[in-house]
Amino acid sequence: MQTLQTTSLKIIDNQLWILDQQALPQQKNWLIAATTEQLVDHIHALRVRGAPLIGLSASLLLAIQARQGMSRQALTESLKTLRASRPTAVNLMNNLDRMLQALSAEDYVTAMVTEALRLTGEDRQLCEHIADAGTPQIPAGSRILTHCNTGGLATAGIGTALGVILRAWQQGNVAQVWVGETRPLLQGGRLTAWELSEAGVPCQLITDSMAAALMAEGKVDAVWVGADRIAANGDVANKIGTYSLAVLAHYHRIPFYVAAPHTTLDRQCPSGSHIPIEQRAASEVTGVSGSFGTVSWAPENIRVHNPAFDVTPAALISGWVLDTGMVTPQQVAGGIFRPAVAD
Ligand code: MRU
Repeated sequence: MQTLQTTSLKIIDNQLWILDQQALPQQKNWLIAATTEQLVDHIHALRVRGAPLIGLSASLLLAIQARQGMSRQALTESLKTLRASRPTAVNLMNNLDRMLQALSAEDYVTAMVTEALRLTGEDRQLCEHIADAGTPQIPAGSRILTHCNTGGLATAGIGTALGVILRAWQQGNVAQVWVGETRPLLQGGRLTAWELSEAGVPCQLITDSMAAALMAEGKVDAVWVGADRIAANGDVANKIGTYSLAVLAHYHRIPFYVAAPHTTLDRQCPSGSHIPIEQRAASEVTGVSGSFGTVSWAPENIRVHNPAFDVTPAALISGWVLDTGMVTPQQVAGGIFRPAVAD
């Protein structure tokens, strides 16, 4: 299979490598994902993370496995296992539906390799189109708050919400980015802070609990976030803490934008209450771990609630910025995300 490199994935000599997003920014470790089990483990541990990237890594591994001579039956099993690796981000399911289609082709090896590379190339393009659609919404001097990580690390391209911010900054319109640290796993503090600093974008890291005060002080002009799944009524599942920011933005009359590729849209899902929300380990809340080691501060055996995502109702969203353009609340209410009805 041809050599390929994105910010956080690469294929060299027919092997998939991932940049360990749990070790960043202190360490830049490339880890091999040679088997289905190994990739599932990387996905569970969030070494590979971000809705688009999860789908792409699974698709690329399947293509490599097909190329290595894995049988159609074994590939079907591998696909099923990968599909079950994380429940919330629908990009994984959407990408794997296309890989399953390729698996049914007579020459499934060529079809799967072609499809996985096509998905990766498409994702890069989708990010560019999202940035095209998003930047007109960012006036000069904007101070933007973002949550989690939606950048090049999470996609094959420049990112979704972070791609918009980056492009708007290149156009001279971003004065400041507030980076929410994103407890419990600190994707903001570890990854977005790193990506923006590397790019030279003026940014400041805040704890999640500081957002309200910043907004009250008039220091936030807009909130931009990504999405893991967009339901047909416009409700959005995204990293836990997104809903709090949407409520705060609504109260302070600050625009709240969601940026995502169409691969994040789930037309079959009627509303946010139907989106499966991943529950994660207690240890992520009782402490923190990374390349710096593991720290635990909570009392032993404390009961913990740890949903990885929350749902922001459509009513709190000012615009859904997709690769196809900006979608307004009126269009969403009119059913633009609902399944097409046959005549
Ligand atoms: O648990 P994670 O880090 O995979 O969650 C990621 C997010 O919630 C992102 O906002 C979303 O996947 C969009 S990434 C372009």
